[in-house]
This record gives sequence, C-alpha cells and structure tokens, in this order.
Amino acid sequence: CAESLTSNPLKAPSPARFPLTRPRRLRQSAAIRALVRETSLSAGHLIQPLFVAEGAEKGAVASMPGVVRFDLEELVRECTALQALGVGCVALFPVIPQALKNDRGDEALNPEGLVARAIKAVKQACPQLTVMVDVALDPFTTHGHDGVLGADGDVDNDGTVEMLRKQALVNARAGADIVSPSDMMDGRIGQIRDVLERDGQKNTLILSYAAKYASSFYGPFRDAVGSARNLGKADKRTYQMDPANTDEALREVALDIAEGADIVMVKPGMPYLDIVRRVKDTFGVPVAAYQVSGEYAMLRAAIANGWLDERGALMEALLCFRRAGADMILSYYAKQAATWLAE
Ligand code: PBG
Repeated sequence: CAESLTSNPLKAPSPARFPLTRPRRLRQSAAIRALVRETSLSAGHLIQPLFVAEGAEKGAVASMPGVVRFDLEELVRECTALQALGVGCVALFPVIPQALKNDRGDEALNPEGLVARAIKAVKQACPQLTVMVDVALDPFTTHGHDGVLGADGDVDNDGTVEMLRKQALVNARAGADIVSPSDMMDGRIGQIRDVLERDGQKNTLILSYAAKYASSFYGPFRDAVGSARNLGKADKRTYQMDPANTDEALREVALDIAEGADIVMVKPGMPYLDIVRRVKDTFGVPVAAYQVSGEYAMLRAAIANGWLDERGALMEALLCFRRAGADMILSYYAKQAATWLAE
C-alpha cells in the first residue's frame, strides 16, 4: 500500500510488525531450556516390574523381547543392580506352575510359596530397596481370573476380597514394603488395611490399582505369567473399568483413598494420561502410572524395526508420564532408563 512504500526504513518499526513475545528465546540453548524446564525424571521415580519363576517357567517372554522371567538367584542379582542404579522400587510378579494352580488360587496364600521366598531373598540382599508385591489371584487360578468364581460364573467380589485380605497379609509378613491390589474388587482396600493394622503391619504401604481399565494392552503380561491360555476368550470387564469412562475413575480413586490407600495407580499408561492428570488435580495424593506390557511391546517392536529411536522415544514417554502428574512410573524399561539417566 502507499504507506509502506513511503515509510522510512530508519524509523523505528511499528511494534506490530514483529512478535511482541518470542517464545523461541527460551529455547535457544540447552542451558536456558534447562532453566525453564517444568518436569524432571530421575531413577527414583521408576519402578521396575520383575517376573519371578522357577525351573521350566524361567526364561524369555516371547511377546516382550528383552524381558526375562528370573529365578531367585537371577532376581537377587537384578535387584542389586537396580538398587545401584537408584531405581526407586521393584514390583514382583510370580509365574506359577500350572500344577500349583486351582480354581480358588490357594497357592497365593502359601507363606512358603514363590512370592514369599522372592520377597525374603530380595530384602535380605537389598534391605534398602523398596519391594512391592501384587495382590491378585490371576497368576494362581486355573481360569486366569483375578478372583474366585461364583455360582453364576462371574468373579465373586466378597469371596475374592476374603482371599486378597489373606494374600496381602502373607506378603506383608514376608517383608513386602508395599502391597498392590491389582484386582479391582470393591471394598478390598479397606479390608486389606484392616488386616494389616490388626497384625501390627502399620508401615506397610498400599498402592491401589484404583483406576484399572479392561485393556487390550495387558496381553503380553498375561503371556509372561501364563494366565493368557487359562483365561482364553474370557475378559475382565465385570471388574476392570470401561476404557470409555473418566468420572468413574475419580469415584474409584475416592473410594480407595477413603479406605486407606497410600498411593493410587492409573493403568494402562500412555492412552490414559488424561486420567492421571484428573486424578492428580482432583486429589493431590501420590499417583502412580503403569506403562504396561502392551506399551512396552509396541515401543520395542517399532524400535526393533528401526522406526523409532529407542532412547529418544523412551525417555520422552517416561517424561510425559511425569508431566501428566504421575509421581512414579512402573515401566519394563526402568532399568534401561536409569542406566541412561546415570550417564
Ligand atoms: C493382573 C495384572 C495384570 C497386569 C498387572 N496385574 C493383567 C490383567 O489385569 O489381566 C498387567 C500389567 C501389564 O500389562 O504390564 N492382576
């Protein structure tokens, strides 16, 4: 226009011709980016899930390349290495031989069973390492469900809670620092807190899988613990949550906090970060998120094909859990991430 043709280039330009704010100024160097970084990730935020097995059950997990089912000796060695890397906690999951499973999951209550022996071995070798143990019946049942079945074929809530109460106590007595019910029965947190208090286990933490969804992303885990073939075509939708829901997650978390949970978990992870954020904003309690087996398998497969850069994709994913509001993250990549963080 006429005005721009006649304007004097030596005259101070009108501010409107330049951005008033340049967000890129805060990104211009690594040092400045570090000054304004809002979120951090360190090894202490990470929890390493570990599969424990004996005899024929040990070894690689086909659908989770790089993940191994350890025997007790290997488990202790792995935990020692994780402790040296500063990993915050390990979460133990047993692989139970089919011969020890029954329809009630009674082996879960065995004070000399694999889980109890694993807890004792790890706590003896690494007393400072925080040990978390899953409370649920699926590794122990012949039908692969997380509880006992009622006459109608569905998981019987209150009968299952009776079992979980006992299972949590066996694990706490064996030395578990954290018991983590992953079963989604109603009222189990209050019952577990009650039995722990009555037994004098007042320092045992309860990490509740509070908002656990009926997800397709658990497939490789079910392969790892051998519950997939037992579960067959059945699903867990009468107890795990509908992936479509978010208000329901808040109701579940509110109940578990009221019943005595110390930490609440959202699971799976990456597709559910909106839930992590809502839970953190609403309750302000310690929140855990679980980057589950299917997420691991997806990342691993893309990395193996050269489609994703392993370190970049992994560290970004873990950082994003923290940004969404997770205090701690369960990840099969915890050890690898801690190794990178130590560099
Ligand atoms: C079962 C349990 C599951 C996971 C942890 N505990 C699977 C399920 O609910 O069927 C899944 C973990 C993962 O996928 O990494 N109590």
